[in-house]
Amino acid sequence: MNMEKPRMNQYDKIAKTDYEIYPLLSQRYSPRVFKEKQITDKELHQLFEAVRWAASSNNVQPWRFIQTKKGTKAYDKLVDCLSEFNQKWVENAPILVLCGYKKNMDNGKENFHALHDLGLSLGNMTVQAQSMDIALHHMAGLNWQKVHKVFKVPEGYHIATALAIGYYGAAIDDLPKDLREAEISERERIPQSEFVFKNTWK
Ligand SMILES: Cc1cc2nc3c(=O)[nH]c(=O)nc-3n(C[C@H](O)[C@H](O)[C@H](O)COP(=O)(O)O)c2cc1C
Repeated sequence: MNMEKPRMNQYDKIAKTDYEIYPLLSQRYSPRVFKEKQITDKELHQLFEAVRWAASSNNVQPWRFIQTKKGTKAYDKLVDCLSEFNQKWVENAPILVLCGYKKNMDNGKENFHALHDLGLSLGNMTVQAQSMDIALHHMAGLNWQKVHKVFKVPEGYHIATALAIGYYGAAIDDLPKDLREAEISERERIPQSEFVFKNTWK
């Protein structure tokens, strides 16, 4: 008899898509629990290499990251900057990252596309991670003013989000009820008709 506890893997929450899409995309989701397995330095380099090769406006590459590993002071400091809700689950992740961007271009003008490019770079990371059975969970729930102070973020940069990274395949039995239910709930989306318009707005 298989006595292994139930685990969530990347095939357990496949999106019910209206049209066929690449499996790495339909299998992606944002878990709040991760397998008890380290992410190696090499794997982290692979994830950030995927970021490195993302497109960006004028090739400015405005993205900046601070990575921390569980068990370090920096990781604990990062947890301390997150919202109460995120603090409830985030320490399941072996890696936590702060994601930011450089606000201006080298000529001093505001880079209006910096946040776009940070998001795009994380899209690249998503696909790379997914191919390695690694999951990402983005977090807007953080106190960025506190982050800037604690992590000595210089003028001209803004920390937009935090990111939890870990392997899919967590055991979900011991989770509190709300987190367990969120983990197994079906993924939902608005239909294309609500966000793709033909020729003009609506
Ligand atoms: C920019 C951004 C910020 C998010 N912030 C949080 C957060 O603070 N806490 C959290 O638990 N989930 C957060 N999420 C995860 C979203 O809730 C999740 O992506 C969405 O519900 C869709 O679920 P899926 O990624 O599993 O498809 C965030 C996602 C993004 C992209």
